[in-house]
Amino acid sequence: MANPSLLILAGDGIGPEVMAEVKKIIGWFGAKRGVTFDVTEDLVGGCAYDKHGTPLHDDTMAKAQEVDAVLLGAVGGPQYDILDFSVKPERGLLRLRKEMDLYSNLRPAQCFDALADFSSLKKEVVAGLDIVIVRELTSGVYFGEPRGIFTEGNERVGINTQRYTESEIARVARSAFELARRRNNKVCSMEKANVMESGILWRQVVQEVHDKEYPDVQLSHMYADAGAMQLCRWPKQFDVIVTDNLFGDLLSDAAAMLTGSLGMLPSASLGAPMANGRPKALYEPVHGSAPDIAGQGKANPIACILSFAMALRYSFDMGDDATRVEKAVEKVLADGVRTADLMGPEGGKPVSTSQMGDAILAALDASL
Ligand code: NAD
Ligand code: IPM
Ligand code: MN
Repeated sequence: MANPSLLILAGDGIGPEVMAEVKKIIGWFGAKRGVTFDVTEDLVGGCAYDKHGTPLHDDTMAKAQEVDAVLLGAVGGPQYDILDFSVKPERGLLRLRKEMDLYSNLRPAQCFDALADFSSLKKEVVAGLDIVIVRELTSGVYFGEPRGIFTEGNERVGINTQRYTESEIARVARSAFELARRRNNKVCSMEKANVMESGILWRQVVQEVHDKEYPDVQLSHMYADAGAMQLCRWPKQFDVIVTDNLFGDLLSDAAAMLTGSLGMLPSASLGAPMANGRPKALYEPVHGSAPDIAGQGKANPIACILSFAMALRYSFDMGDDATRVEKAVEKVLADGVRTADLMGPEGGKPVSTSQMGDAILAALDASL
């Protein structure tokens, strides 16, 4: 059988730094577990713009459509702020999501015991936290038409449109219900049905899909603003949260702080099944290119490493090995190994990005 194929798009800023640690782990799987991935590397974001004048070359897009999974680091940076909107680094990532039709973005927020003290919330609020935000990723206000900056009379007007079709809502709802069935069987759907028609439709469709296909799953609805509050007040009340593209973006960054750092949150963006039965997929940390720390060896590679673990689970049917990687991360944190973002005001000596990667490799070795 052919080796599993991976396209690595490390991107900009800390993207290549955190991806270097994932590459070590991919090498470890070849050497120690006899699983060799066929890895291709390419450009996305600002670095692709610098080389090709576009944040995602058509050839790269075509490769992404062919591989078993794509791993992405991060895109963007202040040096690209002046670019025309159509070629900004972020457009490359959005094109990948849209053309691969990756409608279901799983963003787990899990608080490792060793970090419970470190969260900005009280230990008892976050200890043992294990929730997943399912963010709709290919529609909503990110993609709706009309959009643009226009002139109306003597002033400019900026327009984006929140638009959801019934089928777009239904498919991401199904993905959330399926996930909940494999977890604690609870879904909370978040929208603003009190002020937005798209929110009214969202609530109706989620309820209909539930009643017809998933009556066994416990479903609740919340306005997204109240949901943000509840996420900080008592996050352990949730199991799976399903929400739209923009609310999911905001809520998942907020959820990151429950776990201690944005440098901890992985994600999987999943689409329809391919010929091999596995979903079309892209895996990436929730964080961005972190220009403030790029190039300094300070970035926490754990979000990217846990994103690779999600790839093992969802794209390669290697759930046990995914758990092995997650346990290795847990062990290293329990041993007190910390990158700078995981240090409290009392300080201590942080390890570098590559030292964190090496510690996780050592824990993987110890797991054999
Ligand atoms: P960011 O996530 O890059 O950084 C926010 C803060 O978190 C910064 O202080 C940063 O140093 C810190 N941080 C993030 N990841 C970290 C890690 N792994 N280890 C330690 N600290 C980490 O968000 P931003 O500053 O708002 O955006 C910077 C750029 O990244 C922008 O161009 C934005 O569009 C882009 N962005 C890209 C993605 C992506 O590629 N998926 C996601 C978010 C933002
Ligand atoms: C994310 C990012 C992206 C988004 C940007 C970089 C396009 O913030 O993945 O969370 O807004 O979806
Ligand atoms: Mn975001």
